[in-house]
Amino acid sequence: MRRLYFGDNLEILRDVSAHSVDFVYLDPPFNSQARYNVLFKSPKEDVASAQASAFVDFWSWGVESELAYHDLLTKVGGPTGVFVQALRSALGESDMMAYLVMMAVRLHELRRVLKPSGGLMLHCDPTASHYLKILLDGIFGAVHFKNEIVWQRSLSKSLMKRRLPSNHDIILYYAGPESVWNERSAFMPYQQDLLSAKTAEKYSSRDREGRQFQLTSLINPAADRPNLTYEFLGVTRVWRWTRERMQEAYEAGLVVQTAPGRVPRLKRYLDEQKGVALSDVWPDIPPLNSQARERLGYPTQKPLALLTRILELTTTAESTVLDPFCGCGTTVHAAEALGRNWIGIDVSIHAVHVIERRLAEAFGQARVPRAEGIPADYDAAERLARTLPFQFQWWANYLVGVHRLHEVKRGPDRGIDGELFFPNGPGRPYGRLLTYVKGGKVVTPAMVREFRGVLEREGAEMGLFICLDPPSAAMVREAATAGLAVTVHGKIPRLQIVSISDWFRGQRPNLPPTEHLPYAAFSTPLKRTQKTYKPDPIQRELPLSFVGGKAGAVAHLNPVTVARDLDDGQSENGTGASSA
Ligand SMILES: C[S@@+](CC[C@H](N)C(=O)[O-])C[C@H]1O[C@@H](n2cnc3c(N)ncnc32)[C@H](O)[C@@H]1O
Repeated sequence: MRRLYFGDNLEILRDVSAHSVDFVYLDPPFNSQARYNVLFKSPKEDVASAQASAFVDFWSWGVESELAYHDLLTKVGGPTGVFVQALRSALGESDMMAYLVMMAVRLHELRRVLKPSGGLMLHCDPTASHYLKILLDGIFGAVHFKNEIVWQRSLSKSLMKRRLPSNHDIILYYAGPESVWNERSAFMPYQQDLLSAKTAEKYSSRDREGRQFQLTSLINPAADRPNLTYEFLGVTRVWRWTRERMQEAYEAGLVVQTAPGRVPRLKRYLDEQKGVALSDVWPDIPPLNSQARERLGYPTQKPLALLTRILELTTTAESTVLDPFCGCGTTVHAAEALGRNWIGIDVSIHAVHVIERRLAEAFGQARVPRAEGIPADYDAAERLARTLPFQFQWWANYLVGVHRLHEVKRGPDRGIDGELFFPNGPGRPYGRLLTYVKGGKVVTPAMVREFRGVLEREGAEMGLFICLDPPSAAMVREAATAGLAVTVHGKIPRLQIVSISDWFRGQRPNLPPTEHLPYAAFSTPLKRTQKTYKPDPIQRELPLSFVGGKAGAVAHLNPVTVARDLDDGQSENGTGASSA
């Protein structure tokens, strides 16, 4: 079973059958490395943060948090209710409390869908891990706590003035008594730079290829084994192996005699050993650096090796794995590779498209399920615009087939949501079409006029103004005043209005063909220089990928329209963000 959902995991989880999932891994948006941040502010502080206001109805304390809190106390109750109440007494109506309430309702739902024998790992960082552990104790029971795994995600950074750098994430593991635990996978492969002095000394010999090995005994500890007693290379002993097996190993170069008459020994290679027994500190899985081949340009992408280890430890071939915050699909990739059933959910349409591309490239198109929850009619699109306005913008951009999607709402790129490129003749290698999406019900001619101004400011050949409902006559007139774009494909209206309602009735804008463009056309970084965002080390932050953004230009390539092109050295993948 493979299921990929676009949407808020809370709603989707409510439709998943009880006790149907064996293992949950979740990596909710919470750490301080991304650009899109909400500053935590207490309602008592009257400093209105422009950053926070972008997400005010999502994570700040508000009606939604109050309702969720009420449900937790009245419908869930028990230790969960008690802990949530205690946390609110301590944290007040802060953004952290809003976050914890949102997590608590989701964790409660996850417990419902998990089998009693199931397990759950929650990936977070030390900013909130202590609060989340209290929640997990309440929801799953402290008796089911198994481990607090420390994943060392980076090596020591430069010294900080007032504290130590943060180099690790936390993975909290809870599981029922009958849960799967594959002991045989609880080993950490040996790595040169992590070898203990004792192991390094043991494996100090190297063969011609540089592989490390040690010579170990082939003598059987049991003295009385007549069938294993024979002469080999002139030496008679009770051997561990039969003569045939010994001969085979000798021919493979694994049994060596260092001098005539010496007892033959076995060449044991370091890279063939199981490794060191795994503890709850995982220092051996490096984070994805900017050159990593598996990197997809998706913020917060976790290494495949991390999820592979987790699933190898906790699941079998029959297991169903669920990742309710699946991002660019690391868990589903690992689950598919290991032959597990899986369910992935993400509220970002971009994440869903990146996963589709990722799975198609790794396993072939036949193994990519149809993503559920993507609007297929006007009503669904209207609902998306109302409930998740930023996602509506991304979805609308995907619909018209843009090549590059922008994440900015403020700053110099204001007024541009996407870009599409088309070949435009010699001398002017490609033309540029900008998109602007308005998901609200109130759309005016002034907005169309403003977008016309953006096209002029940017020197863009064309523009698409995308809105939900058919435009008024005044809006159509306003668009017409932008005139015609003279392209090698003929004269095309420079500013066109695309209404979603008309789109679902089959109406399409007049667009120049977009094939035969060099990869560079899509991936050239924006020229403008932007201030680089530097997180404040003291300030706690809650980054939320793809639900909006603060000022700053970040563009993502559309994995649906921009083919991955590894040969031109422009990017490792089709989604490599080009940011200024
Ligand atoms: C930290 S990222 C996960 C990264 C992922 N582990 C990977 O390797 O790609 C968190 C993800 O949660 C998603 N998300 C945030 N709120 C969500 C919600 N309510 N429902 C579903 N997904 C959500 C975000 O869009 C983001 O992709």
